Amino acid sequence: MDHLPGPAGYPLVGNVGIDTAHFHQQLEKWAHEYGPLYRMRLMDRRFIVSSRGKDIAQILHDRPDQWRRTQRLASVLEEAAACGVFSAEGDEWRRQRKLVMHALTPEVVNRFQPTLAAMTERLRQRWLAAAQAGQPQRLLRDLKAYALDVTIGMAMGQDQDMLDHEDKRLQQDIEFVFSQVARRVVAPIAYWRTVKLPVDRATDAAGARIRAAVDGFIADARARMAADPALHDQPGNLLEAMLVAADSPGSGISDEMVQANAINMVFAGEDTTANTLAWLLYLLANAPHAAARLAEEADGKPGLEQMPYLDACVHEAMRMKPVAPILAAEPVRDAALDGVQVPAGTVVFLLLRHAFEREVALADGAQFRPERWLDPAMKEKLDDPARKMVPFGGGPRFCPGRYLAMCEIRTVMSMLARSFTIHAVPDAPPVEEVFTFTMTPSALPLLLRARSLC
Ligand code: HEM
Repeated sequence: MDHLPGPAGYPLVGNVGIDTAHFHQQLEKWAHEYGPLYRMRLMDRRFIVSSRGKDIAQILHDRPDQWRRTQRLASVLEEAAACGVFSAEGDEWRRQRKLVMHALTPEVVNRFQPTLAAMTERLRQRWLAAAQAGQPQRLLRDLKAYALDVTIGMAMGQDQDMLDHEDKRLQQDIEFVFSQVARRVVAPIAYWRTVKLPVDRATDAAGARIRAAVDGFIADARARMAADPALHDQPGNLLEAMLVAADSPGSGISDEMVQANAINMVFAGEDTTANTLAWLLYLLANAPHAAARLAEEADGKPGLEQMPYLDACVHEAMRMKPVAPILAAEPVRDAALDGVQVPAGTVVFLLLRHAFEREVALADGAQFRPERWLDPAMKEKLDDPARKMVPFGGGPRFCPGRYLAMCEIRTVMSMLARSFTIHAVPDAPPVEEVFTFTMTPSALPLLLRARSLC
């Protein structure tokens, strides 16, 4: 790896000084300068950055035996929140993955659909009330609160109604801990393991309150299941499904593991889904032809079963504004990437967005054009695993929440397309990509107008 090209950096400290809010864009910019495989250094830690499709396919595929999530990410998550499936490795990961997969099956998610529909109607009413009063909606805030309501509803069987109650302690704690995880993952030194600043003590306290709240939700779920034994055969949410799995003889699954994974779901499901929706709204506001075609499709469909144009819009938003534009991994033991030796423990950043851009060079790639995903020639182009777009990751650690996320996105977007038109606020400052563990828009200066009022 020493022979790879890369940015020069300073003596001793290397490439420190990267603006962490734009971390992914800096790595993408260097990929344009130094090519698809380069090296960089932060203090005494050396990194490889790859945007080669075959490296990405290989690494994602060879987890957990050959490659793992980075030790920094795993330990930060465990310290701040809980050690569930996201940070587990090896056999421990296999056991927890099975538990989570069992709880996120289409059957469990479909049983949650009526609650999802009711929560989406609440969102519609809120946006409608603002439109009727001639007020702008607070879209970014509302999408996050909605996604949190859905995730807590699905994961724990609780309706917290964060959407209409802005002062909920649990939401504040979850968002605070999440922001601290994002900060610690990219911090040059893990100082909080030696000295705790007030912010670190506040993180510990918020983490403890989240765990206590989830313990309460577990007790509620157990009480519901005792009162209604049919829930053992047909669990209605993730927590119930995990408790069924935990209670089966010889499962080896403790209540602690259930608690950790319920928290994991909330962390993994809120920002990802809310930001995907936010970026999609932003792109549609700037592509009126696509918004009109989506409205036409939504008007003609009473349900969600077949909306190919909506799916194409989501795909196109994930191509241009994926909430995970980069992933990181490290080899469990010394490994090689097409001839380049990678010592065990070396972090490799995978530039998912840039790799797709590079491998599938689209002449009009800067344009939001959902139609491209309906073209059979595009599907053929992507048959090669090295050219796959992987917004949900890939291989054995592929996102287990994809089905739920897609149900949520389809439900919100079809409601929105039927009820509202989207408008960019004139003269608003440009929207920037901000890297806060997921890629968030810096703002969402848009307005929804009720279609009946237009
Ligand atoms: C649009 C929404 C979402 C996106 C774009 C997304 C994306 C991702 C990505 C990129 C990964 C890493 C995969 C890898 O390492 O190969 C991941 C993992 C994960 N996601 Fe999602 N996700 C979304 C929604 C959700 C939801 C709603 C849940 C659950 C409620 C969820 C639960 C998880 C979990 C538990 C993992 C860790 C899996 C493992 O390590 O085995 N995600 N997701």
